[in-house]
Amino acid sequence: MIELSNFGRKFVGDIGILHLMDDLGKAVAAGDSIMMGGGNPSQIPAVQSVFRDRMLRMLDGDEFERVIGNYDGPAGSTAFRRELVNFFCEEYGWKISERNIAFTNGSQSAFFFLFNMLSGEFGEGQHKRILLPLAPEYIGYEDVGLSADSFISYKPQIRVSDDRTFKYFVDFDALEIDESVGAICVSRPTNPTGNVLTEAEISRLSALAQQHNIPLIIDNAYGTPFPSIIFTDAEPRWEPHIIMCMSLSKLGLPGMRTGIVIAHERIIEAMMGMSAVLTLAPGGFGAALAVDAVRTRQILDISHNIVRPHYQQRSEYAQKLLHDALAGTDYYIHKSEGAIFLWLWFKDMPITSAELYNRLKQRGVIVVPGHYFFPGLADDGWRHRHECIRLNYAGESAEVAEGIRIIGEEVKKAYLQVKMRE
Ligand SMILES: Cc1ncc(COP(=O)(O)O)c(C=O)c1O
Repeated sequence: MIELSNFGRKFVGDIGILHLMDDLGKAVAAGDSIMMGGGNPSQIPAVQSVFRDRMLRMLDGDEFERVIGNYDGPAGSTAFRRELVNFFCEEYGWKISERNIAFTNGSQSAFFFLFNMLSGEFGEGQHKRILLPLAPEYIGYEDVGLSADSFISYKPQIRVSDDRTFKYFVDFDALEIDESVGAICVSRPTNPTGNVLTEAEISRLSALAQQHNIPLIIDNAYGTPFPSIIFTDAEPRWEPHIIMCMSLSKLGLPGMRTGIVIAHERIIEAMMGMSAVLTLAPGGFGAALAVDAVRTRQILDISHNIVRPHYQQRSEYAQKLLHDALAGTDYYIHKSEGAIFLWLWFKDMPITSAELYNRLKQRGVIVVPGHYFFPGLADDGWRHRHECIRLNYAGESAEVAEGIRIIGEEVKKAYLQVKMRE
């Protein structure tokens, strides 16, 4: 057996996202599963044709050869950085320059860079963590920190509405920010819940970060101005203490692996060093495909007029089916304010969401059990974390409908179990 270092062992150990991706991968490979588990965006022909046309234009001249034949610098394509600076300065009045932007191979790898530069060992025995003010939060953060104990997170306040929906809010009274916090991080819209932190919550988190001289990382993978899978009013905002992480993935380009970080120059400088060491330079193909759409502002047109309405309509469709399929059980759907997921809460369900996941898997429906989405939250027996599941609603309508029908049956069976026992 080859002996691995502590670093190596970390990646063959008990990694939630690895188990999950493995399990989901096997289910898909086995065929005829209804896949409502992963994070794939929809295939939207009107968006695909924009990038296909761009590709054809690249092939017309020598641009294709230039893009595939050269390394960019460690911050990534200069042309794309320049266009993004113009875009954010002109459209939103941000005060940024090219020195505030770096690209990464997918925004997932940006979190590896950022979390490890802002948490872990700081010398003289000081250990810092990333504060996630509202769990449930994105599973992809969980194992990114190389030091043990990288996160501290907090339970939300839960507000239930009469129409079987609910919404999480940050419990500001519970947050403790001291020297041991290296940064605050939120995904907005949130994966897995579809929550969008309110402007008031974001302003308060931003003020707290500024007051404690730490960055606020906003993971804007689904947010505004692109891909704009967000159904509430939210303004893109940036200040020097905000680290804005964006991605081309949910616009329809996950295979391009293009993440965008907009941050203070000191952060970008550190990211460039890490990028040079780990990858020499980020891949430039996603940047080349998207640069024209940013220059012409077509990216706003695609985001606002194609992508957002597509997901909003899909979300409403799935919610309607869910309300019908789950009627009679004590279910709640988190307000769908963005992202490509619906987050369901089965209050006092007699089986755990992990058990429900297994039963659904037996029936060929793949969802994600909710307990994975609480990185950094100590297990104090809080039942809620075992009562939720995440559904990706972005798939084909007929599949989504069939998946929801089966979910309805299994959830009803699970609740009936308790009635029979009573
Ligand atoms: C909230 C959130 N952040 C970041 C990512 C990473 O996306 P990518 O690495 O494709 O940019 C995802 C992917 O699903 C996500 O849901």
